[in-house]
Amino acid sequence: MKISLPQNSKMLRKEFLYGVATASFQIEGGIDSRLPCIWDTFCAKEGTVADKSDGSVACDHYNLWQQDIELIESLGVDAYRLSISWPRVMNQDGSANQTGLDFYINLLDGLNAKGIKPFVTLYHWDLPQHLEDNGGWLNRETAYKFAEYTELVTKALGRRVHSYATFNEPFCSAYLGYEAGIHAPGLVGKEFGRKAAHHILLAHGLAMDVLNKYSPDSMNGIVLNFTPAYPATNSTEDLAATKFADDYNNQWYIKPLFDGCYPDTINLLDEAHKPDIIDGDMDIICKKIDFLGINFYTREVFKADDVEPFVVVPPEHVPLTDMGWEIYPQAFTELLTTLDDLYDLPPVYITENGCAMPDTIKDDVVDDQNRIAYYQQHLNALNDAIEQGVDVKGYFAWSLMDNFEWALGYSKRFGIVYVDYETQQRTVKASGKAYRELLAKRT
Ligand code: NOJ
Repeated sequence: MKISLPQNSKMLRKEFLYGVATASFQIEGGIDSRLPCIWDTFCAKEGTVADKSDGSVACDHYNLWQQDIELIESLGVDAYRLSISWPRVMNQDGSANQTGLDFYINLLDGLNAKGIKPFVTLYHWDLPQHLEDNGGWLNRETAYKFAEYTELVTKALGRRVHSYATFNEPFCSAYLGYEAGIHAPGLVGKEFGRKAAHHILLAHGLAMDVLNKYSPDSMNGIVLNFTPAYPATNSTEDLAATKFADDYNNQWYIKPLFDGCYPDTINLLDEAHKPDIIDGDMDIICKKIDFLGINFYTREVFKADDVEPFVVVPPEHVPLTDMGWEIYPQAFTELLTTLDDLYDLPPVYITENGCAMPDTIKDDVVDDQNRIAYYQQHLNALNDAIEQGVDVKGYFAWSLMDNFEWALGYSKRFGIVYVDYETQQRTVKASGKAYRELLAKRT
């Protein structure tokens, strides 16, 4: 199967940017030459990662980066989204780890030499463990440490970076990491999640100032994830629960950036669960951004509950990915048009979209027609949003290659390239070939 778009689609023009994305902890390995991070610690704990794996080798990208650049080039993409590992480039005393910086300098030089634009994320979840030992994102100080790290990186990398994102998916770091406990550092409690989120958003605002000072020519912004919330029924109760869920999981992270305040739902929270907001914080957070990165995978359906403000209705009798996530491309279009109505958005880049599928490899072939179908549906859903006027400038497939899928370890494969973890052999899947063909069709 091929991936096709309507003939007159703006997404078939050369100006529309296509890329592939990864993140440091999920692919690099090479842990001996960096400080430990919260994911190293989390993986070492009993019962945290489904297949009991960790990031010590991952895709061994730390050693195989040169061949990986060739792999990226072979896909015909315009851009590559990667993240920098904070514990690889900054020592505990705040000084630079030159070996770590050199790794990224060489990588970026290699990409630029091939005309592939580097989109760099500064924080894709690998907080140095020594900062977690001091309270991590529950400690306001961490936001200031992040600004120092941003300064160190921008000064060292100079003009090699096309675009900087401060954070990837603050929801995941704050909620999954400090409230639900299913991601590192694994804390559980409603009293933690909102506090961590506030400090992450504060760190974003502080870092925007640093980026604008030391890297004014790059496109600087943030990457947010959205799981659009739909009501189970149209009852008043279910609609109210869904609104609460949407505010709590989605709007919480975007509204402060554009409107300088949290959703009104904040007033419904227990005092002890609210973030610690200091005068001036919201002004720091709502700095102008050059672009908004949006990650989209699925939607969720909610209903009212007697105990909790909302509960998820598990998807049944609907198409699912290997993550158990509903395939519902219409939510992608609706998300983009809704955000465009609600906020004064800068240019948007889809910084992640893709799916895990139960791939098998036979005679060097991975015939992932199900993944091609997912891309076909979602690229067309994106095209619909663009047709309706949303200013989307680019799209990144998640992921370049199979990698460490956090609490699910290596059991879930998101790549358009298959990774054999025994041999580190990479094999372009049918979806990777279909993506390459689509990109080659642009005029
Ligand atoms: C979002 C995250 O940014 C990425 O790290 C993760 O692998 C994908 N979603 C898939 O779950």
